[in-house]
Amino acid sequence: MSIVRLVAATAAAIVLFSGVSASAAPSAATLARGRALVVFGTCNDCHTAGWREADGNVPVARWMTGSSVGFRSASGTSYPTNVRLEFQTMPESQWLQAVHTRAGHPPMIWQDLRAVPDADLRAIYQFIKSLGPAGVLAPAAIPPWREPATPYVDTRVQPTPR
Ligand code: HEC
Repeated sequence: MSIVRLVAATAAAIVLFSGVSASAAPSAATLARGRALVVFGTCNDCHTAGWREADGNVPVARWMTGSSVGFRSASGTSYPTNVRLEFQTMPESQWLQAVHTRAGHPPMIWQDLRAVPDADLRAIYQFIKSLGPAGVLAPAAIPPWREPATPYVDTRVQPTPR
C-alpha cells in the first residue's frame, strides 16, 4: 500500500470511528432526560422490585432489573421484564417499533408511551441501556388456568361501573 493510500485509509477509519463513537455514546443531557422520563413514566413502579415499598429509594444499580410480582389478567400472568438485560440485545429501532405498534397489551403502558415523541423514547432507551446489564430474567408468563406461585396484582376483578 502506498503511503498516500495508507494515509487516506487511516483518515477514513478515523472519520468512521468518530462517527460510530458519537452515536454509541449518548450525551449527558440525553441520559439526564432519559433518567427523568423513566422515573416520571413510572417504569420503576413495575420493572424495579421494591420501588413502591421503598418510596422510590432504590439504588440506580437495581433500576429496571425486572420483578417477580406478576400482573394477572384474563389472558394470564405476565412479569415486568428485566429491561437492563433486554436492552443490551434489543436494538433501539425495535423498542420504537414496539411502542408504535403494541398498544392494547396491558399492563405494559404501551398505550401511554405512544404519545411520547421519538426523541424522548430514544432517551429512555439510551439511559436504561447505559446502566448496563444487571439482575436475572423475570419469570416467564404463565397461562390463565395456572395459579401463579409468585405474588401478583390481580387485574381480573373490575369495579362495577356506576
Ligand atoms: C403497570 C406496570 C408497567 C409499567 C408502568 C411499565 N411496564 Fe414495561 N412491562 C410491564 C410488563 C408486565 C411487561 C411484560 C409483558 C408485556 O410485554 O406486556 C412489560 C414489558 C416491557 C418491555 C419488553 C418489551 C418486549 O418486547 O419484550 C419493555 C422494554 C418495557 N416494558 C419497558 C418499560 C418502560 C421503559 C417503562 C416506562 C416508560 C415501562 N416499561 C413501564 C409492566 C409495566
